[in-house]
Amino acid sequence: MCCVPGMKRIHTAADLRAALAGACDTAFVPTMGNLHAGHVSLVTSAKRIGQPVVASIFVNPLQFGAGEDFARYPRTLDADCDKLAAAGCDFVFAPTVAEMYPHPQTFMVRVPESIAGDLCGAFRPGHFDGVATVVLKLFNLVRPRTALFGKKDLQQLHVIRGLVRQFNLPVEIVAGDTLREPDGLAMSSRNAYLSPSERRQAPQLHHELATLAAAARAGDGDFESLVATARRRLSMAGWRVEYIAVRDAATLAAPAAGTTECVVLGAAWLGRTRLIDNLNFTLGDPG
Ligand code: PAF
Repeated sequence: MCCVPGMKRIHTAADLRAALAGACDTAFVPTMGNLHAGHVSLVTSAKRIGQPVVASIFVNPLQFGAGEDFARYPRTLDADCDKLAAAGCDFVFAPTVAEMYPHPQTFMVRVPESIAGDLCGAFRPGHFDGVATVVLKLFNLVRPRTALFGKKDLQQLHVIRGLVRQFNLPVEIVAGDTLREPDGLAMSSRNAYLSPSERRQAPQLHHELATLAAAARAGDGDFESLVATARRRLSMAGWRVEYIAVRDAATLAAPAAGTTECVVLGAAWLGRTRLIDNLNFTLGDPG
């Protein structure tokens, strides 16, 4: 399949199948919409990787827990389509909930407790089962050769890599770097929830992770105390911290003796907004 003039919006699985008939090099960017420059950069990368480029926009109810923000998650389809078209996306797949889950979805992917009960999963029971289930369905519908995901949702990226590996899915996963606002705040659709004063305070999460990473790079190996300091500073500034954790960058397990490539991850609430971020660092490399 070669170039498609203009971007086509598709809302049903049948139309998607028809549009993608014969495509064998599809590059796919799954999203929940309310797109920012991070999503656009994934689409730009996708264009260099495969053809056609398909983006999905679907706020997936299965990955939201009771009391989470499913109902108020920003739905901005027209503005999103303008951004995708400008980035050169060929097809946007924007199904309804009834189209994605025509019968109650009783078959689910179950992510192992060692992952699903860790980091974000520990605070969002069922979240990664919902993510893995919808991504598996989307992969079956789009049948991409490549799929692109952002590194900001690092644990999600690990879940999806595990899904692909363990189910032998014929998809190559490509990770896109986190894009940041000039003050360091990681771009996220949920930043739209922040009040002006919360928005001014929000870069502190990145700042505390960067401070911890700098101390560790400079040789401070007492991660427990570095984490406690970061938590305390955030809490004193009014954040409700879920976790700050230093992990092996490749596996997200606790760093073992000899681990050099690390990542510090954090999740914390500012008012009614839950923000997550992470930063890679190399031990013994003061930069
Ligand atoms: O990262 C997201 O936007 C979502 O979790 C995803 C991967 C599109 C699944 O709904």
